[in-house]
Amino acid sequence: MAHLFEALKLRDVQLPNRIAVSPMCQYSCTDGMANDWHLVHLGTRAVGGAALVFTEATAVAPEGRISPQDMGLWSDRHIEPLARIVRFLHEQGSFAGMQLAHAGRKASTRRPWEGEGLLPESEGGWRRVVAPSAIPFSETYPRPQALAEAEIHEVVDAFAAAARRAARAGFDVLEIHSAHGYLLHEFLSPLANRRDDQYGGSFENRTRIVRELVAAVRKVWPERRPLFLRISSTDWVPGGWDVEQSVELARQVRALGVDLMDCSSAGIVPGAKIPLGPGYQTAFAERIRREAGIATGAVGLITEPTQADHIIRTGQADLVLLARQMLRDPHWPLRAARELGQPQSWPVQYLRAAPPGSPARKPIEAGIVSSSRS
Ligand SMILES: Cc1cc2nc3c(=O)[nH]c(=O)nc-3n(C[C@H](O)[C@H](O)[C@H](O)COP(=O)(O)O)c2cc1C
Repeated sequence: MAHLFEALKLRDVQLPNRIAVSPMCQYSCTDGMANDWHLVHLGTRAVGGAALVFTEATAVAPEGRISPQDMGLWSDRHIEPLARIVRFLHEQGSFAGMQLAHAGRKASTRRPWEGEGLLPESEGGWRRVVAPSAIPFSETYPRPQALAEAEIHEVVDAFAAAARRAARAGFDVLEIHSAHGYLLHEFLSPLANRRDDQYGGSFENRTRIVRELVAAVRKVWPERRPLFLRISSTDWVPGGWDVEQSVELARQVRALGVDLMDCSSAGIVPGAKIPLGPGYQTAFAERIRREAGIATGAVGLITEPTQADHIIRTGQADLVLLARQMLRDPHWPLRAARELGQPQSWPVQYLRAAPPGSPARKPIEAGIVSSSRS
């Protein structure tokens, strides 16, 4: 049996394989609302056989969007269009993951295909962009205002409120986005956090907001559903956040109810030298898994089935998350199964195209995420 196709149980969620669709911003919403694009985009990846399909970074507050077109979950209005997507993913046998985010000093920017950097108010941007400290990401980005302590508590509350809505929408897995130079990562990294109160300075202080947030989210996120934390395992810059701190953070949040560390890297400052190559971040997942004793996800230039299987087989990570390869090939999990000689269940509608003897896809059992079990 290829290890990539072994089940993975996290709390009450039993993933049928180790393949997840990594969160990917689509910059295609109006007022944060999911729409048909998201149903088709995420739904296609579920048809393709990924065990877990993540939404894009979904803002917990309007000012926490990267661009005006980001997805949001700051109000109850956002729930139903997302619930529709969750129902479709479940019908395809995939679990649904929600990534909650706040863009911090990288907010109020243009979506990538419309340029880069600051989006002025006259073009739909917003006046107040917030961060731990009043230091912009770069000259072309908004100049943020430092959050007051009371506002930090409001951010924590906003994550918890959005987590509650994600549960109501039926999501099975929740991920807190604390990577890629967005708000929570900005608190973690000494390169962006120059505060001298209890949220800045020492490791304990810089990581405080993440601990508070995990605790607040865990209180409202159903106990039987898994919670992931995505981090930038290193800033790739001397004097920045590094893998040693990531290991220590993983130990701390594990005790607070995080089930899996999703190990990405970079994004806090422009121009970091990143040794890009196949699986270039996998070593972080391996080290955090070993030293912090927590499940990890590996992400970053994982493109080949044998590569992904090797990562799971050799215990470097418990899950692989694929982003761009899933855009190129939404049916990657089905192809991986074929290449690795595994039977893989197909949607009944597609069985005539499947290898002979392929089993039909089973929907996620109703009840796995019902309130009686949550
Ligand atoms: C179009 C696109 C949008 C992305 N949006 C997000 C996002 O919303 N949240 C996030 O954590 N990472 C985001 N990422 C990063 C991916 O999840 C992933 O970590 C990165 O692309 C490396 O994986 P890959 O080599 O498989 O593409 C995005 C990447 C792409 C290509």
